[in-house]
Amino acid sequence: MADLSTKVGALRLGNPAILASGISDVTAELMLAAIDGGAAAVVTKSIGLKPREGHKNPTVVELENGVLNAMGLPNPGISIYSKEISKVADAGGKVIASVFGKNATEFSFLAKKVQAAGACAVELNLSCPHAKGYGAELGSDPEIVREITSAVKRSVKIPVFPKLTPNVADIAGLAKAAERGGADAVVAINTVKAMKIDPWVAMPVLSNRIGGYSGPAIRPIGVRCVYEIAGAVKIPVIGAGGITNGSDALEYIMAGACAVQIGTAVGPAGTNVFGTVCAELEAFMDARGYRNIKAMVGKARCA
Ligand code: DHB
Repeated sequence: MADLSTKVGALRLGNPAILASGISDVTAELMLAAIDGGAAAVVTKSIGLKPREGHKNPTVVELENGVLNAMGLPNPGISIYSKEISKVADAGGKVIASVFGKNATEFSFLAKKVQAAGACAVELNLSCPHAKGYGAELGSDPEIVREITSAVKRSVKIPVFPKLTPNVADIAGLAKAAERGGADAVVAINTVKAMKIDPWVAMPVLSNRIGGYSGPAIRPIGVRCVYEIAGAVKIPVIGAGGITNGSDALEYIMAGACAVQIGTAVGPAGTNVFGTVCAELEAFMDARGYRNIKAMVGKARCA
């Protein structure tokens, strides 16, 4: 039988399916439910220094082939969230803590806190498409990506995974900057900057007007980004964007990802989506004679 285990740099995972940031992940109970459903690790909602309420409603709208949201980085702040991370870690779960800050100092402070709480890695949100002073406002500039990554690397021992924005001309350039900063891996992609207008009220639907688009519609964008990144850097890539089933995960793996994150699909499919994706991966691997994940990573890149 095929071996589903994988490695993201030094981080060993029982399978390649990880819960993406921002989906059913603000409490230990929710994170443990994803692990029960088969996720090898979970990523927290992005954590900031202080509690934040986020934008007023409407913050989410479901579209034909995906979901558009602008939550405004709501989170309970690092002191409360640290306790949730510790509960999952104490129960044997692997938590990748997503953090956001205004600058390298804030990112480094948060990274130290999540390391102390028991996180197995830290994901840097350099890619939220619509938060003023945060996310992609910093992460669209390769020099800032390098600087923040390098500061966090100097502050913690756990692996550091910058999460990149697809809303740029050259995402591979951002990945190279992350690699220069010492990143252990990069995560691609965060949501695609998008908008929905309701013609009957002649207004954008989201209170923030602009949001981040996720779900099946963005998968081809994510796969292309991973393909470009994997051709430009030596560090591992974690793929994300529109994965619902084993075949979707295989696209990312064959583009060059060694693990994948699943978020939006947890809404309709529930936390069992991780187990289902893994079962479908295993069936494919057995059918095609792939012994392990590594044998498939970047398989579509050769020609
Ligand atoms: C939010 C953050 C993100 O990183 C993203 O991709 C979408 C939304 C938010 O909290 O608003």
